[in-house]
Amino acid sequence: MTALLEVSGVSKRFGGIRALEDVSLEVLSGEAVGLIGPNGAGKTTLFDCVSGVSQPERGAIYYQGRRIDRLPIHRRARLGIGRTFQRLELFTGMTVREHLAVAEREHSGDGRLWKDLAWRGGLTSEETDSVEAMLKELHLESVAESPIEALSLGQGRLVELGRALIQEPALLLLDEPSSGLDSRESAELAAVLNQIRATRNEAVLLVEHDIDLVQAIVSRAVVLDFGRVIASGPLDDVLREGAVRTAYLGEPA
Ligand SMILES: Nc1ncnc2c1ncn2[C@@H]1O[C@H](COP(=O)(O)OP(=O)(O)OP(=O)(O)O)[C@@H](O)[C@H]1O
Ligand SMILES: [Mg+2]
Repeated sequence: MTALLEVSGVSKRFGGIRALEDVSLEVLSGEAVGLIGPNGAGKTTLFDCVSGVSQPERGAIYYQGRRIDRLPIHRRARLGIGRTFQRLELFTGMTVREHLAVAEREHSGDGRLWKDLAWRGGLTSEETDSVEAMLKELHLESVAESPIEALSLGQGRLVELGRALIQEPALLLLDEPSSGLDSRESAELAAVLNQIRATRNEAVLLVEHDIDLVQAIVSRAVVLDFGRVIASGPLDDVLREGAVRTAYLGEPA
């Protein structure tokens, strides 16, 4: 079976820093995989290389069997690669509904949204239905007309998630979705992610420091440390490995 995503021997440097060194991993269709490791391990850099924000210096990235590492970001998004960001990338002054509407139009429109930002025609009824369904799925109906700056961080993270999901990705890259959330908000996020996983078939690559959230979502994990894969396999096995406990959980070697 061809992997949905195949990262093969990818390396990326920033000056003297080896952010990624010969990294290989696979995500199968519909699978949830954890990408874990300490601060600075290269997790966000890997997401940047997969989504098209950065170019690897060496190696190749395949999606649905097709090489994508030279394609621009928007082409990869159209192929079905969605992502959320470690630092929220939302727009102040825009409401929750508007964020989802723009993402929906980007997905279903002809790709010329940014030439027609005024977008006088408004959304079609199918697009409106899709936005309503997403507000409902993420429990954001009560804040639909609120500007982004009025939301809690947890709600902001759900808007980011909705903006990615409304484009119906086959592969969703989640970069620390629980960062900054309190334990109640993290538990709600885990419930929403599990509900999404139960009703849709997209694959997830999850970067997350909150090990409870990782355990709630994924069954397999890849561990990065200083840009290298130091372990991979079933999550429980990986978490038992000494090198992982040292690197990730901060236990003495
Ligand atoms: N644009 C950049 N310019 C220079 N160095 C960078 C850049 N982006 C990342 N790095 C460096 O590359 C390494 C990997 O960073 P990256 O952000 O991918 O780690 P991470 O695993 O996502 O860490 P965190 O858990 O803190 O988010 C770090 O040493 C970081 O300082
Ligand atoms: Mg990061």
